[in-house]
Amino acid sequence: MPQDPFDWIDAQHERLRAAGLVRTLRPRSAGADLVDLAGNDYLGLTRHAEVVEGAAEAARRWGAGATGSRLVTGSTALHATLERELADFCGFEAALVFSSGYAANLAAVTALSGPVGSGTLLVSDEGNHASLIDGCRLARADKAVVPHADPEAVRKTLAAHGGRALAVTDSVFSVDGDAAPLAALAGVCREHGAALLVDDAHGLGVLGRGGRGALHAAGLAGARDVVATVTLSKSLGSQGGALLGPARVISHLVSTARTFIFDTGLAPAAAGAALASLAVLRREPGRAERVRAVATGLYERLTAAGLTAVRPDAAVVSVRAPSPEAAVRWAADCRERGLAVGCFRPPSVPDGVSRLRLTARADLSDEQLAGAAATIVATAPGV
Ligand SMILES: Cc1ncc(COP(=O)(O)O)c(C=O)c1O
Repeated sequence: MPQDPFDWIDAQHERLRAAGLVRTLRPRSAGADLVDLAGNDYLGLTRHAEVVEGAAEAARRWGAGATGSRLVTGSTALHATLERELADFCGFEAALVFSSGYAANLAAVTALSGPVGSGTLLVSDEGNHASLIDGCRLARADKAVVPHADPEAVRKTLAAHGGRALAVTDSVFSVDGDAAPLAALAGVCREHGAALLVDDAHGLGVLGRGGRGALHAAGLAGARDVVATVTLSKSLGSQGGALLGPARVISHLVSTARTFIFDTGLAPAAAGAALASLAVLRREPGRAERVRAVATGLYERLTAAGLTAVRPDAAVVSVRAPSPEAAVRWAADCRERGLAVGCFRPPSVPDGVSRLRLTARADLSDEQLAGAAATIVATAPGV
C-alpha cells in the first residue's frame, strides 16, 4: 500500500500542537459585542455610512468583481480615480492599486530589484513585515538583513556593496509600533545612490498632516528616489493595497510586477470604499490626531499602573507579557471582559518576547479608553 501523501502533515501538526503553535480561526460576530483593540480599523471607517455606501454604489455600478487582471478587463474608471486620489492625498506623483498590500510589497521588492543580473542589493530591516521579507525571498537579488532601525548599519552595508541597491523598511513596525528613522535612512540612501522603499501600512491615516502618512511627515513624499506601499485595509477600512512613487517607477511596475500583472484587479467595492474613506479623511483630518491621542492615552494609563509598554509612535501599543502562556491567558481574560486585544508570542516575534498588541482607534470614546485600560490592568499577570 503506498503511503498517504499527506501523512507528514499529521506529524507536523503534532509538533506545532506540542509547541502551542496551532492556529485556529474564530469567526467574529457582526455586532459590536467586544471593544476592539485588536483590529486595524484605526479611524473607525469600515462601518462609516459613507464608506459602506461607497462600496455598495461601486458594486452596483461596476459589479461584484473586477472581472479580470488590471491589464485585461480589471481596470475601471474607479481604479484610475482611486490611484489619482491616493497619489494626490499622500503627495506622490503616481500610484498603482493592487488587490492587497501584501501583493503590493511583493511587487515593489521584486520589480525594483530586477532585472536578474543587475547586481542589486536588497537591504532589509530585521523587523520588517512578512510581506517585505517574502518580497526579498522572491526577488532574484542579493540580500542583506540589517539590525532594526539602524541607519548606520544601512550605511555600512551600502558602502561595502558599492553598487545598485534598494533599502526596504516598514515606517511603523507591526510588532512594537515603533517608527523607522526615515529621514536618516533617506539621507544614507542618497549618499550611496540607493532607492528607499517604505511600507507605510501603519502610517497612512495616522501619521503626517491629516493622516497623509509617515513619508509626508518626514518630508519624503514625492521624492524621486522613494517609493511607498500603503494598504487600504487598515485606516481606510477597506481592502487592497497601493504603491506610490515617481511616475516612471509606477509605469515600470505596470509592465513588470508579476503580482500586478497576474492577479485579478481590486474589487470595485473595495476601491469605492477606499475612495469614500479618503473623502472622509480629507473632511475630518482630526481623526488622525485622535487615533494618536488614544494610543498615547492607553500607553500612559498602562505604564502608570506599572505595566511595561513601548511608547507608541503611531496607533500600535505593545505591552510586555512575562511568558507566552501568560500572554495567551491575559488576552483570553480581556476577551471574557468584553475587550479584544492582540497577542504576539514566539515565533511571530523575533526577539522571543511575548506581548499584548493593542491597536488604538479614533472612534474610541474617553470612557471606552479608560475602561479598556482598566480591564488590561485588572487582568494583567500577577495583579
Ligand atoms: C506592515 C504591513 N505591511 C503590509 C501588510 C499587508 O497588507 P494587506 O493586509 O493589505 O495585504 C500588513 C498587514 O496586514 C502590514 O501590517
